[in-house]
Amino acid sequence: MNKFCFVIHPTSIEDVARYEPGAVGKGLPLIRKILEWMPAYTACHVTGVRAPDGREIEGWFVAAPLLPEQMLSLPREEVFARILRAIELGAELGAQIVGLGAFSGIVGDGGVTIAQRSPLPVTTGNALTIAAGVQSLLRGAQAMQVDLAQATLAVVGATGSIGSACLELLAPHVGRVLLVAPNLTRLQTLQAQLGPILPPNSACFTDVHAAVREADVILTATSSTRELIEPEDLRPGAVVCELSLPHNLGRRIAELRPDVLVIEGGVMRMPGTPRWERVREPGRLFDLGLGEGLALACMSETMVLTMEGRFEHYTLGRGISLARVREISTLAERCGFVLGGMRAFDQPVTQADIDRKRSAAEALRTAV
Ligand SMILES: NC(=O)c1ccc[n+]([C@@H]2O[C@H](COP(=O)([O-])OP(=O)(O)OC[C@H]3O[C@@H](n4cnc5c(N)ncnc54)[C@H](OP(=O)(O)O)[C@@H]3O)[C@@H](O)[C@H]2O)c1
Repeated sequence: MNKFCFVIHPTSIEDVARYEPGAVGKGLPLIRKILEWMPAYTACHVTGVRAPDGREIEGWFVAAPLLPEQMLSLPREEVFARILRAIELGAELGAQIVGLGAFSGIVGDGGVTIAQRSPLPVTTGNALTIAAGVQSLLRGAQAMQVDLAQATLAVVGATGSIGSACLELLAPHVGRVLLVAPNLTRLQTLQAQLGPILPPNSACFTDVHAAVREADVILTATSSTRELIEPEDLRPGAVVCELSLPHNLGRRIAELRPDVLVIEGGVMRMPGTPRWERVREPGRLFDLGLGEGLALACMSETMVLTMEGRFEHYTLGRGISLARVREISTLAERCGFVLGGMRAFDQPVTQADIDRKRSAAEALRTAV
């Protein structure tokens, strides 16, 4: 049976509690200190992922237990060493490829240095995340009856590995595109590169709030660890596809903007009867807060490559080709991985939720 490992780390304090129930009630400074000292460990054993044609794989989530801000602020070599140790644990268990989850695939240069030093072939999983994000945004816009041809799309994190490819794939569907990121020079270079595929009047923004105020549909894929979008920034009936982990939208949006559809874009449904079991407490299931049978798209990419026996460096760095995105989408379909149902703030989004949001948006528009 082919085997994989996937590097995980907590992306929020809620995640720390999910990984380590013993952490509940401890303050953030203490948790940070504990994580700084905690070595890499094998957190979870994955079984039961089975393609419709019977191919089955096995894997492990290996933890490099640092919070995103620690991944960015601790000395780079120390962070690389922690991630590489987690990969070695996977290799010792027989993994043939490793996926880099969340900030372990961002820190430094988007997995390139890790790939040079890793005993296993590496992928960030960003190609399938791009495909899932684009599909999610299009599905959300359709559910909210947004006329995309007339709509303004803002991509927050437009210069990133995920953001730039999502932008390229979504630009032909919309009336206007806003490219949003902190570095104006990089934004303008990207705008010039994409040139004719961008609709007229497209523009670069370094101010997230200003861009979001002009947008009907928004995709977030940033390496910021902060909440970037405020409830009052959003237009009535806006659709936001959130790929950033940690999220750039806070729960306040769920409370204060019942007219806005937020969807966590990078979630897939796995084939077979997947089981995620805690390694240190056999019999107890491991909870990533995604819901049963669901996995992040970056994990799914790693599992698809494992099923297909594609033990090679796959998605690394920025500048991912659309050919790669199309290839992994085809492979994922063949292996039985499909886009997960809509979710937001750890809950499924139902048709009744969508109906309520559409009515609330309509009421706001007529009140203006
Ligand atoms: N759901 C999933 O399955 C999944 C899978 C993989 C990754 N992710 C998440 O996706 C996100 C993006 O990953 P990536 O690999 O594309 O990262 P990346 O290549 O490092 O790109 C990050 C982007 O964010 C921008 N950025 C940084 N700070 C910002 C701020 N304060 N405001 C606006 N933009 C900002 C960067 O701009 P500059 O060019 O100026 O630096 C860049 O455009 C991360 O949160 C990651 O955890 C999710």
